[in-house]
Amino acid sequence: MFRITLFLPVLLLTVTFTKSEDECNLSQELIDEIRSYQTVVDKIIDATTNGQFKGATFKELATFVDKFGARLSGTRSLEDSIDYLLDLMKSYGVQNVHGEDVQVPLWVRGNESAKMLLPRETNLAVLALGGSVGTPDEGIEADVVVVRSLEDLHQNYSNAVAGKIVVFNYEYIRYGVSVSYRRQGPIEAAKHGAVAALIRSVTDFSMNLVHTGQTSYEEGVTKIPAVAITVEDANMFQRYQERGQTVRVKLNIQTESFPEVKSRNTVGEVVGSENPEKVVLVSGHLDSWDVGVGAMDDGGGAFISWYSLVVLKSLGIVPKRTVRAVLWTAEENGMAGVIGYDAAHKDELKDFIFVMESDEGTFTPLGLEFIAGKKRDLHSHRDIEDDDSISNWLLAPINATQAVRSSGGVGSDITIWKDVIPTGSLLNDNGKYFWYHHTKADTMDVLDPDTLDKATALWASVAYVVADLKDDFPRDFSDKGFYTIPNVFYVVLLSLVGLLLH
Ligand SMILES: *[C@@H]1O[C@H](CO)[C@@H](O)[C@H](O)[C@H]1NC(C)=O
Ligand SMILES: *[C@@H]1O[C@H](CO)[C@@H](O)[C@H](O)[C@H]1NC(C)=O
Ligand SMILES: *[C@@H]1O[C@H](CO)[C@@H](O)[C@H](O)[C@H]1NC(C)=O
Ligand SMILES: *[C@@H]1O[C@H](CO)[C@@H](O)[C@H](O)[C@H]1NC(C)=O
Ligand SMILES: [Zn+2]
Repeated sequence: MFRITLFLPVLLLTVTFTKSEDECNLSQELIDEIRSYQTVVDKIIDATTNGQFKGATFKELATFVDKFGARLSGTRSLEDSIDYLLDLMKSYGVQNVHGEDVQVPLWVRGNESAKMLLPRETNLAVLALGGSVGTPDEGIEADVVVVRSLEDLHQNYSNAVAGKIVVFNYEYIRYGVSVSYRRQGPIEAAKHGAVAALIRSVTDFSMNLVHTGQTSYEEGVTKIPAVAITVEDANMFQRYQERGQTVRVKLNIQTESFPEVKSRNTVGEVVGSENPEKVVLVSGHLDSWDVGVGAMDDGGGAFISWYSLVVLKSLGIVPKRTVRAVLWTAEENGMAGVIGYDAAHKDELKDFIFVMESDEGTFTPLGLEFIAGKKRDLHSHRDIEDDDSISNWLLAPINATQAVRSSGGVGSDITIWKDVIPTGSLLNDNGKYFWYHHTKADTMDVLDPDTLDKATALWASVAYVVADLKDDFPRDFSDKGFYTIPNVFYVVLLSLVGLLLH
């Protein structure tokens, strides 16, 4: 995943829910309507976790990643994998299957190696960060300076890193915070004259694996090689420095950047029976980094998305509105896929009722995480919680009964819409997500067939119910043009999945 913020023009939408519901008080009619979906949700869950689709999401994904391996933006492998999926979705009877062209970056890793020369000689595991420049052919040899943070660099080492290799051995806080070293570290090191930056892998746990990911450069600042190292090596460099020992490293990193090339977002639908122009979107990204095979990031998210359409279509479950799967391209190195899609579909976004993306793991599903407008206080939802036992919630059969309002973003691609369209992602037991993230360990072995079945069942159920409800999810722009929606949205979501935690 990779997050950026874009500003989109405000959409004008009407509110169809009534005033009393705005106060977090669902009408009995709406409660009854939501409850009426239990039969069809049970059918989806049963077919996916016990019946005809049991194990299918995992099996399809394993076949796919074994066939194509890594799928880096701009590569033949990614394009071949898109062709394959377009054919596969058609063969399952998914409707309106097509690719939508977008221009995407092409950056390629070449040979890379690193050797510590002092205080002892040993090879180091390294991965150039995406977008990084390479070293000269003969490599770069320099002493190492370890800093703890950007502030540490500025305050304590600004005059000490010219001609040196800077190691960023920051304290891991959480991904969204610590990832800034990957993006900003090389820029700040270069400003002080460093010749390369070695970034501690962004993870909360390490077994000596290197984690890649996108880096960035700044106009007017020298581009220096930006390279990931293991947590273990970063700590080792730190210890040498604290003992006053000189650390010398030789880096040889070859990379190449090419002009943008054509790729495609992969799209398929179950067309709505009454309002086909209105869309509930399910998504994940098909591209991956060039290490591992992108089974977890984001094969799982992409496959539960298109396979949800197969489940609905095969069971003859057709909602009033369209459920559309979009498998984004080029998420990892700047989200060119969703940016192109947004530009091409600007006029239709007003009809996007709910957009979902799973890009933070498909481990045991717990429910939904969502952002729906500006944060506001929740009240009165206790009425609903107290109203019924947990076993009555639609997704209780798979124990995915939590709805959590995200404080940051949801998904990665769809974050660009978080202020204009209600967005949701798969809440899952992803405490180990960053262990594998952007490494060669991102393989099928991270995933589990039964767990993927539950995730597909959740995804298909939520998409179907939201696409079939009598009324659209409400939205209004009363608050100085900033997007807000009535509390009833939250209540509807928590009624779908269960208990609200916030
Ligand atoms: C919710 O609706 C019930 C019954 O219509 C009413 O008694 C109650 O006061 C309402 N609560 C709020 C917070 O509007
Ligand atoms: C990478 O290294 C191998 C073996 O040393 C060599 O054959 C190959 O030409 C190198 N590739 C590039 C792109 O330099
Ligand atoms: C600068 O170095 C001093 C002494 O090692 C240290 O206490 C301080 O925390 C460092 N400053 C920053 C911003 O890390
Ligand atoms: C349901 O999930 C909760 C935590 O989310 C867990 O404590 C509980 O054991 C689970 N129950 C079943 C039947 O899996
Ligand atoms: Zn991802």
